[in-house]
Amino acid sequence: MEANIPKRKEPGKSLRIKVISMGNAEVGKSCIIKRYCEKRFVSKYLATIGIDYGVTKVQVRDREIKVNIFDMAGHPFFYEVRNEFYKDTQGVILVYDVGQKDSFDALDAWLAEMKQDLGPHGNMENIVFAVCANKIDCAKHRCVDESEGRLWAESKGFLYFETSAQTGEGISEMFQTFYVSIVDLCENGGKRPITNSSASFTKEQADTIRRIRNSKDSWDMLGVKPGASRDEVNKAYRKLAVLLHPDKCVAPGSEDAFKAVVNARTALLKNIK
Ligand code: GTP
Ligand code: MG
Repeated sequence: MEANIPKRKEPGKSLRIKVISMGNAEVGKSCIIKRYCEKRFVSKYLATIGIDYGVTKVQVRDREIKVNIFDMAGHPFFYEVRNEFYKDTQGVILVYDVGQKDSFDALDAWLAEMKQDLGPHGNMENIVFAVCANKIDCAKHRCVDESEGRLWAESKGFLYFETSAQTGEGISEMFQTFYVSIVDLCENGGKRPITNSSASFTKEQADTIRRIRNSKDSWDMLGVKPGASRDEVNKAYRKLAVLLHPDKCVAPGSEDAFKAVVNARTALLKNIK
C-alpha cells in the first residue's frame, strides 16, 4: 500500500510532506509546534479552533523538505473538522500531558479515530508516529512515568520523546528524529524502518509488564488464584522471571516489573505453609 508516499520530482532533491498533531485538548500540541517554529512559549491557553495550518522548510541530509503542518484541535467538539485532515499524512505528532493520565489513556482512541477516518483502505503502517510525553517540567504533578509511556509507544513501533514546550527540552531532538524518520520512510518505499527498540521485545513481554503494573495484589501479580499452593506460586514466578529477567528483557519498565514479581513471591511464600 503506497497511498501515503508523497510524490517528488527528482530523487535526492526537494520533498513535500504532511504532518499532523493529535492528542487531547490542552496537552500542548500547539505549544510544541510554536516552540520549534517560533522559539517561544505562550503560557495562556488559546484553544485551537478546528485546525491551524503552517508551512515550514527543513533540511534532512541533502534534501530540502517542505513541511505542511496541520495542528489539530483536541476538543471532541471539532471531530467533524478533524476528520477531513487525516488522509495523505506521512507523520503524526501524538501528544499527551504527563500530569493527566486521561490524556495518556486517550492515545488509543486517537489512533482509532484516525484509523476510522482513513477507512478500510487506509494504512497506518506507512506513517511515522512521534509520541510526546509533554509538560515534563511539571515534575510534581507527573503521574505517567517514562517507562509506561515508552512501553506504549515502542511496543507499537512509534518514536518516544520526553518534551517540555515551556523549557524547550526534547523539542528539537523530537522534530529532527521525526523528520529524518519520515525521509527514511519515503526513501524506503513507504515502509516504516524497524527501530532497534521495537524489534527487541515481544508483545507478550509488553503486555505482562502492563498487567503487573495494574495488578491489585501479589496473587494477581503472579497470575495465581488467592490461596494457591507454594508449588503454584513458584511455577508462576519462574515463568515470569524467565520472561522479564533484566538480562533477557529490554522492554521499558521490565526491571521494576521483575523486582515487583520477586517481592510478590517472597511475600506470598512467607504466609503459605
Ligand atoms: P487544543 O488546541 O485545545 O487541542 O490544545 P493544545 O494541545 O494545542 O494545547 P496548547 O498548546 O494550547 O497548550 C495548553 C496549555 O498548556 C497552555 O496553557 C500552555 O501554556 C500549556 N503548556 C503547553 N505545553 C506545556 C509545557 O511543556 N509545560 C507547561 N508547564 N505548560 C505547557
Ligand atoms: Mg492547539
